[in-house]
Amino acid sequence: MRTAEIRRRWLDYFEQRDHSVVPSSSLISPDPSTLFVIAGMVPFIPYMLGQQTPPWKRATSVQKCVRTLDIEEVGKTTRHGTFFQMNGNFSFGDYFKEGAITYAWELVTGSQADGCYGFDPDTIWVTVYHDDDEAAALWKRIAGLPEERIQRRGKKDNYWTTGQAGPAGPCSEIYVDRGPQYGAEGGPVVDEERYLEIWNLVFMQYEIDDVRSKEEFRIVGDLAQQNIDTGMGLERVAFLLQGVDNMYEIDEVAPVITAAQEMSGRRYGADRDDDVRMRVVADHVRSSLMLIGDGITPSNEGRGYVLRRLLRRSVRAMRLLGVEDHALPHLLPVSKDAMALSYPEVSTDFERISRIAYAEEDAFRRTLVAGTTIFDTAVKQVKQAGGTALRGEQAFALHDTYGFPIDLTLEMAAEQGVTVDEQGFRDLMTTQRERARADARSKKGGQAGSTAYRELRAPGATEFTGYTELTTPSTVRGLLRDGSPVSTAGEGQTVELVLDRTPFYAESGGQDSDAGVITSDGARLEVLDVQRPIKGLVVHTVRVAQGEIAAGAAVLAEVDPEWRLGARQAHSGTHVVHAALREVLGPNALQSGSYNKPGYLRLDFSWGQALSPATRSEVEEVSNRAIRQDLGVSWQYMTLPEAKEWGAIALFGETYDEQVRVVEIGGPWSRELCGGTHVDHSSQIGLVALTGESSVGSGSRRVEALVGIEAFHHLAAERALVASLTDTLKVRPHELPDRVAAVLARLREAEKELAALRQGRLLAAAGGLADGATDVAGTRVVLHEVGDVGSVDELRTLALDVRGRLGEQPAVVALGGVAKERPVVLVVTNAAAREVGLRAGVLAKAAAGALGGGGGGKDDVAQGGGTDVTALATALEQVRAGVQSVGGR
Ligand code: ALA
Repeated sequence: MRTAEIRRRWLDYFEQRDHSVVPSSSLISPDPSTLFVIAGMVPFIPYMLGQQTPPWKRATSVQKCVRTLDIEEVGKTTRHGTFFQMNGNFSFGDYFKEGAITYAWELVTGSQADGCYGFDPDTIWVTVYHDDDEAAALWKRIAGLPEERIQRRGKKDNYWTTGQAGPAGPCSEIYVDRGPQYGAEGGPVVDEERYLEIWNLVFMQYEIDDVRSKEEFRIVGDLAQQNIDTGMGLERVAFLLQGVDNMYEIDEVAPVITAAQEMSGRRYGADRDDDVRMRVVADHVRSSLMLIGDGITPSNEGRGYVLRRLLRRSVRAMRLLGVEDHALPHLLPVSKDAMALSYPEVSTDFERISRIAYAEEDAFRRTLVAGTTIFDTAVKQVKQAGGTALRGEQAFALHDTYGFPIDLTLEMAAEQGVTVDEQGFRDLMTTQRERARADARSKKGGQAGSTAYRELRAPGATEFTGYTELTTPSTVRGLLRDGSPVSTAGEGQTVELVLDRTPFYAESGGQDSDAGVITSDGARLEVLDVQRPIKGLVVHTVRVAQGEIAAGAAVLAEVDPEWRLGARQAHSGTHVVHAALREVLGPNALQSGSYNKPGYLRLDFSWGQALSPATRSEVEEVSNRAIRQDLGVSWQYMTLPEAKEWGAIALFGETYDEQVRVVEIGGPWSRELCGGTHVDHSSQIGLVALTGESSVGSGSRRVEALVGIEAFHHLAAERALVASLTDTLKVRPHELPDRVAAVLARLREAEKELAALRQGRLLAAAGGLADGATDVAGTRVVLHEVGDVGSVDELRTLALDVRGRLGEQPAVVALGGVAKERPVVLVVTNAAAREVGLRAGVLAKAAAGALGGGGGGKDDVAQGGGTDVTALATALEQVRAGVQSVGGR
């Protein structure tokens, strides 16, 4: 049974039983403290906690998930996948244990002809939480399971939490016995490879916080209602029903293994290490496809880093399989074809997805080239020193600086016949990891904050009035200081403040938060920042400028109208520039991120190469034409499917509610899902001036622009600059480029002439210098300070010239000068001097000592430098002393 079919049956089964089918949300976690969605229930957390009223009592979904904690296990076991799909059915205060178990049993063991999965009931085992007699009794009654196939386990296995504060509860897991060839008898408590978990039923009834581990957390209390959250591993069921041995061999993954075999000429199943590599490739390529599909691009932090690692690990695994060629252009399309049945968007969006992936492979190939050179040098040093092992630090530097994974270093070292101090490497890794963890902990600023936020959110969502008014009377719902509730805040303090209703826009969708003041009975608070740390809760960071503020106080919240006008111009300007980019470059130039605040905007979009100056001008032109056309700006609410139908652009990384807001500028010209504040007519934007265009990681560009009066100021400043240049150079503006080029050319000419003149003057002095030679212990010595020189070359030419005039007897010339503000002494000897043991290198070194630096060189010509220009005379004296001591011997 194909994976897509298993998926379809799931949704049909629950839809027929009154569950609303909810589409998978994006892989990007709605909770900023975690990177990815890790379970089907994540999008439903606010319903379970009672923070929001669910639109339905029952729901079902097949949710895309990514978990990368076990990335090193991928390919080694049957069931670790970084990307996987979780089938879930959910009840929000509707059915509970009995309903969940009844549905699960029927769907697992019901016949395939009836739309179920048709597992043999005799192969099914279940586990329940150790004291959950109720669940055990239900399994007996509903499924007729014998006592010995219902096993009890503790918190570690049968209590489910997200690993964060939130909903939790005991659970019951369903296992399939794959048969004696896979391991020992005795059920899941004995062997989880033979008994494979396919489905977890969670009886969500508690809220927890202070989560320290799977078993250590604090139960805050009962949830308002009892919920059901279940998760069936789609890939696991697929591999059982498709009669293959592991999740990498199912229809949605295996084609990549086949492609990897073809490329490498190696056979899957012939060598254990190669098998693991092929599975890693298949898993990682698919995960990368899905992650880029959801708008993530490779980078050095957060989600982007995970993606980068997945892509690089797949390329590296291909190299370990002997493939040196570009791998992704062969593998990614195969993965796309395998996934498109369930996720058609990976096909329609493939142009963009593949561009990003291929660019990352290119970047990694360059890294490999650089790292390989470093590696080769390190190996050479080890061998020259007679050693046999690369040091831990060398392996670590390769890993840390060049992205060389340790197993690549190990392989390459083995090929060169040396070993690697793996323990040393691992110790350094551990140190680094601990440092990173300590960093993260210090940044998080306490779990307590999130509990406090939830309490403030409990009475209901903050009402946002700012679309229609800038001044709103309101009430202080609560105050937080350093994350803890306080009842008052006094002058000079900075606190977080929550209102019942607010006109202040919280930073989101790229738009910076509003500025303004909140006043109350003698108190005046400056609003420094506005955020929405959890859904539905607006938190103002305020500084009490005057008076005192208390929870419960009646206040007047006032957004600064100038600020807001700037913010509206900048946000609408962002939509205009986005539409202009798409008009000029085509629909693939899709925004991947943005930021705007009064006067300024930047927009990141997927695009492979730099924009030419002509293209930039065109984008600017199209934007300003749209402003001039005075296009109407309007917005309305609709459902997400309606909005998509309508062609509205939904941005990656955003999670959308049931009802979404669609903002239009000029009707279909610009139609985006957006919660931001906008102008009423495009002409209110005033002016857009593009100020920059740059790269932000592979396959992604950034444009920056000034908007409104700031754009005018920018252009006015440039005009003033041009005016002052035309004035100085006495030309008209359009003649400036030619005039500047001509001036530069003349300057270069003059510099050349100057150098020749200086050299001529120095050489003219050569005769006099030679005549002034003194005798030091039988050697003719010339010591002279030249003053400023263009370069050391001038000194060298002069010294050699003087030496030529000193005849056959031993001679030493030492010249001191200042080149580019640093003192330098140049020493030359002739053959006779060298015969008596006078070496220029030794003399220059002695001179450099006096200058506070180092020096050296050959026996005939050498130089020394330093930092102390006042010590040149002393330095030359050192040369004389050197000659004296050798001559006197
Ligand atoms: N949320 C549960 C899990 O992920 C179903 O296993």
